[in-house]
Amino acid sequence: MAIELLPLPLPASADASKLAEFGREVKGINPAEVSPEEFKEIEQALYKYGALLFRDAHVTPAQQYALTKAFDPQSESYGHGNNKTGETKKSILHPDLKTIPSVPQVQLIGNGMVYNHEGLAEARLKHPSHTTFHKTRVSAEDEAKGVTRFYRWHIDAALYDLNPPRVTTLYGLTVPAGKKQVCRYDDGTRDELEVPLGTTAFVSGKLMFEMLPAELKSLAVRSKVKYAPHPYVWMAPAHAMPTGLGIESEGLELPLEELPEWEESKLKILPMVWKNPGTGGLHFQVHPCGAKELLVDPLPEGASREGALYPDGAHLTDLKEVRGLLYKMQRPAIAPSLVYPHDWRENDFFLFHNRGLLHTVVGAFTPDQVRAFHQCNLAASDEPAGPTAEDVKKYA
Ligand SMILES: [Fe+2]
Repeated sequence: MAIELLPLPLPASADASKLAEFGREVKGINPAEVSPEEFKEIEQALYKYGALLFRDAHVTPAQQYALTKAFDPQSESYGHGNNKTGETKKSILHPDLKTIPSVPQVQLIGNGMVYNHEGLAEARLKHPSHTTFHKTRVSAEDEAKGVTRFYRWHIDAALYDLNPPRVTTLYGLTVPAGKKQVCRYDDGTRDELEVPLGTTAFVSGKLMFEMLPAELKSLAVRSKVKYAPHPYVWMAPAHAMPTGLGIESEGLELPLEELPEWEESKLKILPMVWKNPGTGGLHFQVHPCGAKELLVDPLPEGASREGALYPDGAHLTDLKEVRGLLYKMQRPAIAPSLVYPHDWRENDFFLFHNRGLLHTVVGAFTPDQVRAFHQCNLAASDEPAGPTAEDVKKYA
């Protein structure tokens, strides 16, 4: 059977003209057993559309690992390092992930108690929610009415020592039914978005770049982001913004001398804009919570200085300034009409281009709402490519 690609069902909130090319449902391919020819088609579609959904899938952890690895055959370990998430107790990710013993690159994530699962006798899962991470929270009263927030917009990446994975696979095994929730932005706008319970929300990094005014596009193609050492430990005492799109600057980050041992050579300095290996398109790809400094190149020769930001280049080290600038660049692209909130069904197998979009957990479950997902991504064998000299010339 030939591969068939169908548009994903968009919610009424979505601007269909902007999201028409985002995501596809794949029919005619079993993600558990993909032939080399089928893989080529999947790979091409993934880089073109950013996300692929296979419904009614039956995929073992080993099969999920195999498909994820096919995108980067030289990659070996989980995106945060195998079995590392449990060891780094101070990391903000620690409670969210349980490793599948037989395939340590695959994590069990979700909510509630899960028993006798893939070699895990018992796992207590906790769906992360904004209540433990944001500076402010939705009142208990509003929460009872179904109001919630985005948890943390991110790229799946350790951002220290290891390279950002190319793709992530998410496989929904147990999906609790429940009423829709309203995700509130609470950032002074009246923005809100109706979402399915426990959705994973996605925004396109390509749109994020394309929406920028010319002076910010110029800045984006000339900039690199320096991430903090052990960013998830560093950010653990700090609080996020109400949109989940970065951290409030209150000076609460763990001082560098109190972090686990780190080396300058293992710090990640990544381009602000990543080049899509399939389409050549430019995607604005910054994990705002882990960003610490910005390195801006001067304008290339011949570029107009009129209206240009940092025409002679800059090294921005003031956290508040760095975050302010990133927020200004990223916030427009998480507008309600540009968000794809996936409405999970059991046995959905979802594959996304981790280097081409941002995503976040949304909502909150009660302890008795059991949710079990398998997640896999692999620290990549290379760093993401930035814009070419030609790209810089075009946009600077
Ligand atoms: Fe993630």
